[in-house]
Amino acid sequence: MTKILVFTDLHMLPEGKRIIGLDPEQRLRPGLAHAARMHPDADRVILTGDLTHYGDDASYQRLRRVLADFPLPVSITIGNHDDRRTFIRHFPEESLDENGFVQRVIDFEDMRAVILDTNLGVERGHPDHAGGVLCEKRLAWLDQQLAAAADRPVVIFMHHPPHDTGFKGMDAIKLSNGEAFHDLIARHGNVRQIVAGHVHRTISGSHRGVPFAVFKSPLHQQPTPFEVEDTHTSVDEPGAYGILITTAQGLLVHTEDYDIAESARRAVDKA
Ligand SMILES: [Fe+2]
Repeated sequence: MTKILVFTDLHMLPEGKRIIGLDPEQRLRPGLAHAARMHPDADRVILTGDLTHYGDDASYQRLRRVLADFPLPVSITIGNHDDRRTFIRHFPEESLDENGFVQRVIDFEDMRAVILDTNLGVERGHPDHAGGVLCEKRLAWLDQQLAAAADRPVVIFMHHPPHDTGFKGMDAIKLSNGEAFHDLIARHGNVRQIVAGHVHRTISGSHRGVPFAVFKSPLHQQPTPFEVEDTHTSVDEPGAYGILITTAQGLLVHTEDYDIAESARRAVDKA
């Protein structure tokens, strides 16, 4: 049995800055504490990008400080809000693939995790900055990792969903070559689950027969109307993280709304 926790879209900011009035550190710390308390047996925590909001030094330093006393092993990839070079400078222990992308494989006893880097690598302010891609080099690397997994079940972790999720604005900035990605994984037939972030909402389903799950952010969430085109609208709803547990014949996917759990616990403690 393998248990993996997923935190996505942390959007860490420099001290004193907030998103819709919310402090990312104040929202993340209770989530990490909840995870450490409820799932001390987790094999790993994976952070699926948008670690910071501006990709700046101060925010990566702050995230490092927040993670410093966290007891579980953590693996990280980046999202569109991150800056690859700045991230690597602050997290030099994160392994990169041979082309310098923040991609790695982790083999557990009963599955292989493949962590992908979908960051476009363009300057902030570029019109395509929010979108994602897996370039030829990254797809070739993925091809090798899936071939090497053979018939071991594979779970892929990536920031940008490789298909539409139903939100008009977010669908415009999904992985731009999702069908090429799906062509590749279909050739191997061993990917059992895709886990993504980017959308800031709990979404699951399947695309071309492959199950996917998207989790909420600890911080701010996507408003529910599907037609919203402005991707910068956000709502203050409880933060969450995901939990994946392998079983003898499959995989369980849970989402933990830890903010609700914490407020319920405080109410019980008070009573
Ligand atoms: Fe995000």
